[in-house]
Amino acid sequence: MVGALETGGAWLMDFRRVPHWLIVGATRTGKSTLIARMITELAPQPVAIVGIDCKGGMELGLFEQRLSALATCRSQAVAVLDALVVDVQDRMRICRAAGARSIWELREKERPVPVVVVVDEMAELYLTNGTREQRAEAEKCSTYLLRLAQLGAALGVHLVVAGQRVGSDLGPGVTALRAQLSGRICHRVNDPGTAEMTLGDLNKDAVAVAQSIGEAEQGVAVTTGDTGGWMRGRSHLTTPAEAQVTAAEYAGLAFRLAGVARALQDLDGGEGA
Ligand SMILES: Nc1ncnc2c1ncn2[C@@H]1O[C@H](COP(=O)(O)OP(=O)(O)OP(=O)(O)O)[C@@H](O)[C@H]1O
Ligand SMILES: [Mg+2]
Repeated sequence: MVGALETGGAWLMDFRRVPHWLIVGATRTGKSTLIARMITELAPQPVAIVGIDCKGGMELGLFEQRLSALATCRSQAVAVLDALVVDVQDRMRICRAAGARSIWELREKERPVPVVVVVDEMAELYLTNGTREQRAEAEKCSTYLLRLAQLGAALGVHLVVAGQRVGSDLGPGVTALRAQLSGRICHRVNDPGTAEMTLGDLNKDAVAVAQSIGEAEQGVAVTTGDTGGWMRGRSHLTTPAEAQVTAAEYAGLAFRLAGVARALQDLDGGEGA
């Protein structure tokens, strides 16, 4: 439960029903606050959480103790996403060998831990200054995220991607990724087009509701339900101090993802050499 709906109900993000999520909003509208709330709720559960926060780890760094990995720059993000793609392919092999269509059909003993990959500010992954190296990195991020979105749903690898915009100015891969992120959450946005891009393909009415969120309504967002409707709600505020306490309390659940840990280590070694 990440907040309260204006219908009086609980605002849920249920990964079993909706595997991947897109969170959009202008600056200071509540994206990171919502993510903090979501991680706070996930922290006591048996899930691995991987953070990709290329604004220097300012937001997700608060939860570092509970994270299986934290990437704070694009080269780390590339390494982590690459390792996750390998992990997803391993999961696929395990499932195929067992005749299972998803990790949930595996016996508990063989079942790999579910992973939630959180990307705070996707533009940091996609936007480049135009050098070839940066463009190549951005393309890799785009390819890997799309791969994870396509394969991950049944294999227990979930994406939560936040950004200020989701337009094709971020690159050609963004539209394809957005199509895979079927859970949508739209905070106040700066231009009507962004609300349209975030919600328009799922629910036209939701677009107008998102466009009417006021400047003062930080934390308020419109979310699409799994039944095709929309709901307006407000996230519960999680303070940085609360985030750190939660992360410390559940640090023991920071599942080790061997491939991801190794990829980050190799990168460290590579840079030091
Ligand atoms: N649910 C909420 N209830 C009360 N206040 C909130 C809520 N969500 C956000 N705020 C307020 O808005 C501020 C900005 O929110 P947040 O940092 O989550 O925005 P953001 O969308 O991540 O912005 P940016 O794009 O700049 O990273 C918070 O510091 C908090 O004061
Ligand atoms: Mg933020």
